[in-house]
Amino acid sequence: MKRNEFLTTLTGSFSVACLACMTSACSKEDNGAPGAVNNPAPASGFLINLDSEIKAVNDFVARSGYIVIRTATGNTPASFSAFSSVCPHAGATVEYKNSTSSFLCAAHGSTFSGTGALIQGPATRGLTKFDVEITGSTLRLKNQ
Ligand code: FES
Repeated sequence: MKRNEFLTTLTGSFSVACLACMTSACSKEDNGAPGAVNNPAPASGFLINLDSEIKAVNDFVARSGYIVIRTATGNTPASFSAFSSVCPHAGATVEYKNSTSSFLCAAHGSTFSGTGALIQGPATRGLTKFDVEITGSTLRLKNQ
């Protein structure tokens, strides 16, 4: 093999290897935002006893990576909103402020409306929302 042929082969192999690395690195981010975090599926063991928790409108539970808010009276799924508390920017925990019905991520200042919609970044999308199901007085999270 001549020197020029060897260098051409070597350069081509290196380019393919670099392209594979770049593709792999990009696949770790689902929305193209630097540091974006994939939110988890709801934990099957996450339960809320509606006989003793979040009984009044705007009461909420924040635990185990989820926030569930009562938005209306009655124990029907439409009376609740449920979100991942994982900030879509870089994975810090967001807090629900029931005085303003909004969410704040103190890590870098992203804010979200009571529906989970993005109000202000650096996050580039809203919170992950979950459906709920209610059996008797037990609320569970479902995948949306
Ligand atoms: S982790 Fe950066 S704004 Fe939430």
